[in-house]
Amino acid sequence: MSLLKTASGIGLTRSVIRKKFVIEDQRLKTTVFGLSFPNPVGLAAGFDKDAKHFNELADLGFGFIETGTVTPLPQDGNPKPRLFRLPVDGALINRMGFNNEGVDKAAERLKHRNTNIIIGGNIGKNKITPNEEAIKDYLVCFEKLYDVVDYFVVNVSSPNTPDLRELQDKKPLQALLAKLMEVRNSYVKAGKKKKPLLLKIAPDLNTLQLDDIISIVKETGIDGLVATNTTISREGLMTGEGEVKAIGNGGLSGRPLRQRATEVIRYLSEKSGGSVPIIAAGGIHSAEDALEKLRAGASLVQIYTGFIYEGPSLIRKINEALLVENKGNK
Ligand SMILES: Cc1cc2nc3c(=O)[nH]c(=O)nc-3n(C[C@H](O)[C@H](O)[C@H](O)COP(=O)(O)O)c2cc1C
Repeated sequence: MSLLKTASGIGLTRSVIRKKFVIEDQRLKTTVFGLSFPNPVGLAAGFDKDAKHFNELADLGFGFIETGTVTPLPQDGNPKPRLFRLPVDGALINRMGFNNEGVDKAAERLKHRNTNIIIGGNIGKNKITPNEEAIKDYLVCFEKLYDVVDYFVVNVSSPNTPDLRELQDKKPLQALLAKLMEVRNSYVKAGKKKKPLLLKIAPDLNTLQLDDIISIVKETGIDGLVATNTTISREGLMTGEGEVKAIGNGGLSGRPLRQRATEVIRYLSEKSGGSVPIIAAGGIHSAEDALEKLRAGASLVQIYTGFIYEGPSLIRKINEALLVENKGNK
């Protein structure tokens, strides 16, 4: 990242990098929840947690970047080691635990944008905040980032903050989203721009829980979903059982998550009659994987583990495939 930062800081090398990675084509433009994305390929949350690199990452061709997860107070996250590669599976296991410098630092950096791509803000709660007071934490982050991001994602689906995922239950989730929507609506009434609010969900929810999610989206009027976060499942791994056990707790991402994430997206899309915009994440390592997510009903895709294993050329490959597909449709 520091190499990219240095190179992007020099006008000439920046234009060389952009020429290699960025595809500017009107046919890739995607309008979802009132925002116009230059292309539908984004960087998933957790890579640029502190909004330190989004300007340079934009030069790699992303159509959008989701910063965060940020919490009100800075926190260290879990002790290291907390990030593990499973190369034979094309996977990662992480238990970072929302390590971040706090929302104030991110908000300050986000004021200095040097890119016209869409920037999201993924918000969470501090580890020391009990679930009963979680709303307060999400509100602080929402208010502090409101003027500096284009959309929000409420993260209640990370497996690495104790009990966080209990906030995915119907009652607390409804209360949390209703409160954030109330604040959003008051901002809009006061003349501020409407910032879309999305919910990020775990791939480990069962069908009944997914049904609840759809009703909550409808009842609260939030703008969409990000599906999915990492999984706590260890099913179908080729990495030896002993090695996986030795790694311990954490969220699994990458190739082994691909199929389940697609199933969740397909279910949500079909069950909601396509009325809920979905950002897809989970095991996208090739253009074909991205097309699979879009065919299942997603409007946009995000990559994280695929970006680590395949490198930045993956962004271009997906966009090129979309252009070919687009031509085929004409
Ligand atoms: C190291 C690491 C850190 C992550 N941190 C966050 C985070 O802070 N907030 C969040 O919503 N998702 C986080 N995620 C989840 C990703 O955004 C994404 O939903 C998930 O990894 C599935 O996509 P992938 O298979 O392309 O990696 C993280 C993932 C990884 C691998």
